[in-house]
Amino acid sequence: MSLLHVEKLQAGYGSAKVLFDICLSVKAGEAVSLMGRNGMGKTTTVKTIMGLIKPFEGRITFKGTDITSAAPYRIAQAGIGLVPEGRQIFPTLTVEENLRAIAISRGKWTLKLVYDFFPRLLERSSYLGSQLSGGEQQMLAIGRALMTNPSLIILDEATEGLAPLISAEIWAKLAELKGEGEAILVIDKNIGALSKLVDHHTILEKGRVVWAGSDFDLHTDPNIVDRFLHL
Ligand SMILES: Nc1ncnc2c1ncn2[C@@H]1O[C@H](COP(=O)(O)OP(=O)(O)OP(=O)(O)O)[C@@H](O)[C@H]1O
Ligand SMILES: [Mg+2]
Repeated sequence: MSLLHVEKLQAGYGSAKVLFDICLSVKAGEAVSLMGRNGMGKTTTVKTIMGLIKPFEGRITFKGTDITSAAPYRIAQAGIGLVPEGRQIFPTLTVEENLRAIAISRGKWTLKLVYDFFPRLLERSSYLGSQLSGGEQQMLAIGRALMTNPSLIILDEATEGLAPLISAEIWAKLAELKGEGEAILVIDKNIGALSKLVDHHTILEKGRVVWAGSDFDLHTDPNIVDRFLHL
């Protein structure tokens, strides 16, 4: 059974519709990508799943419960952890305060485990959010999401703007999380890195799912990448 199930989702801003009948699913323990060029609706999809935008139509269920239009804190409580686009860490709070700010203690993830997972965060625990490098901020955003003990973690731009070595570190950490059974929905522009991590891809174009399939299928037909992903 699907952990997250999005059915015919339509959403947008004001009266402008941006998403048209989006369908996607993530099963327990599975990693799924959401790809597409700039402005195709990836962040809008994520924001709607997280309750930050109210959909016009459609249904979102998580663990079999209808969470369509639920308040964002309810969705976090239900078990979806978000690493938002732009990271959105609290700049005037310390690393440790950021980690504690939205924590939900109900599972294995504790401050200690997050520090074990990202030793750099322990080294920087008393730094302010604003004093961190981009890579450290992304580690903090992931650590903060883990502190909610999510059943599904959603990353909107997992490695955007990060140096190659730091990106590689983030991808390795995501692989580790997947290896531990964490379900992941990930947005990124690095198709090679996504291919190594995910079981299933979903491609959006102008707010519609134009292709969905396995990584094998994606690479079997080179037209797909050219048509929907290359600039
Ligand atoms: N706050 C907003 N108000 C009005 N329109 C918006 C708003 N945010 C996004 N849009 C529009 O919605 C569409 C989808 O944007 P969205 O941010 O979901 O794309 P994206 O796939 O995440 O792009 P990117 O890869 O650049 O992050 C775009 O046409 C965008 O201009
Ligand atoms: Mg986006």
